Amino acid sequence: MKYRKPKDSDSDYSDSDPSMMPPQNSTPFYRQSWFLPILLLMTILLWLQFTPSNNGKDKSPKHSDFLSLSPAELKDIISSEIRSHLISKSVELPKQGEFKSYPPVKVIPDQDRLRICVTGGSGFVGSHLVDRLMMAGHHIIVIDNMFTGRQKNVAQWLGHPNFQLIIHDVINPIMLEVDQIYHLACPASPPHYQYNPIKTIKTSTEGTMNMLGLAKRVKARMLLTSTSEVYGDPQISPQKEDYWGHVNPIGPRACYDEGKRVAETMMYAYESQGNVEVRVARIFNTFGPRMHPNDGRVVSNFIIQALQGKDITIYGDGKQTRSFQFVDDLVEGLIRLMNGNYSQPVNIGNPEEYTVKEFAELIKGLTKSNSSIRSLPATKDDPKQRRPDISTALEQLGWKPIVPVTVGLEKTIQYFRKELEESGEITPTGPNASRPQNTMRHSED
Ligand SMILES: NC(=O)c1ccc[n+]([C@@H]2O[C@H](COP(=O)([O-])OP(=O)(O)OC[C@H]3O[C@@H](n4cnc5c(N)ncnc54)[C@H](O)[C@@H]3O)[C@@H](O)[C@H]2O)c1
Repeated sequence: MKYRKPKDSDSDYSDSDPSMMPPQNSTPFYRQSWFLPILLLMTILLWLQFTPSNNGKDKSPKHSDFLSLSPAELKDIISSEIRSHLISKSVELPKQGEFKSYPPVKVIPDQDRLRICVTGGSGFVGSHLVDRLMMAGHHIIVIDNMFTGRQKNVAQWLGHPNFQLIIHDVINPIMLEVDQIYHLACPASPPHYQYNPIKTIKTSTEGTMNMLGLAKRVKARMLLTSTSEVYGDPQISPQKEDYWGHVNPIGPRACYDEGKRVAETMMYAYESQGNVEVRVARIFNTFGPRMHPNDGRVVSNFIIQALQGKDITIYGDGKQTRSFQFVDDLVEGLIRLMNGNYSQPVNIGNPEEYTVKEFAELIKGLTKSNSSIRSLPATKDDPKQRRPDISTALEQLGWKPIVPVTVGLEKTIQYFRKELEESGEITPTGPNASRPQNTMRHSED
């Protein structure tokens, strides 16, 4: 049969010249490009057909049923068969009643639900903040590198549709779409932040810069959790926000103190130059459940020592003062600050002042412990007094602490009792740099 030149074409095919004829399809069928995929599909079909399921009462269609189907219909059937086969073989679906239950979450209209990023959200303070924001009905994205954070602090939310945990180090940039950023990521206890001082500096500087860059790009409001440590070893008491501080820039605490001071500087540079809405909280000593048992801080060490009947150790003569706030009060202050109109730094702490020795005695009494109180040499650059002036928080946010220290301590003691039950024994961390330890009991214990 002669090849007919297509009428609507201007091609050069000639009726007479065989070299100009289109190529004839003379390749055997088993070398055609469609042969292998079809062979593979047929093999899968046969495999599915002869693999017993449903206790041998397989109701899947027979081989002959497929012969009349089009390739597209075949493809659909095969992919659904493969999926259902894999699901029935390998995925354990939870039985009814086994679904995880979450703490109650307020149902709010979509337009009121904010996307909120909490860096350091699996740490002590961060996880309490996440609880409050989740329960208020917002969508929360936690960013944490798990240096001092613990997944168990946010385990109650894992799998919730409003919650995401991203393991990420803030010294690397991240792209997200969020409305607010609570920037907490930074180890807070002296042994932990002194363990890798360069990393602590990078976290406060590069980390804050990255989060500010994100805030600027997506026009999110950003709150920095700064610290009373920006006042260093203060020469005035109580400390008000306009006090510039007394910090040793090259001492062992400088990586944290100076890091936070630079972070504050960056916040206000991005506010004036980049129009970022900023909030700065200067947090004073905070305590409560979910404190890291190895953080070496006064509250955790004293409680752990008292509960185990070990000596309660004080660094120095114990006359240095501290003021302690319960974590629920802090979280309330942070949320008010974020959502208020005041953009200058605000002290958030409890002005009730104790000497460290008085505090040790208070904890000894509350735990009904027989421990002795023992003095060890003072640590370098340990501030002699720490007490916030909270008049700005009161005026601008209508905030003041409301949880009595003893009530907060009772809850914290209960938490550490449970931690001790799980881990057997906890050795409190000393004043020197130390890596956060996993306190969970090993299986052979
Ligand atoms: N707890 C206090 O008494 C207190 C006092 C003053 C200021 N603050 C500030 O509050 C914030 C939270 O403190 P906390 O007591 O919950 O401490 P924390 O150590 O329990 O929490 C810090 C969290 O940040 C994470 N993190 C650290 N470096 C990171 C990095 N580079 N990238 C990502 N995640 C990182 C840790 O894994 C942890 O989950 C800190 O910024 C701290 O400086 C706390």
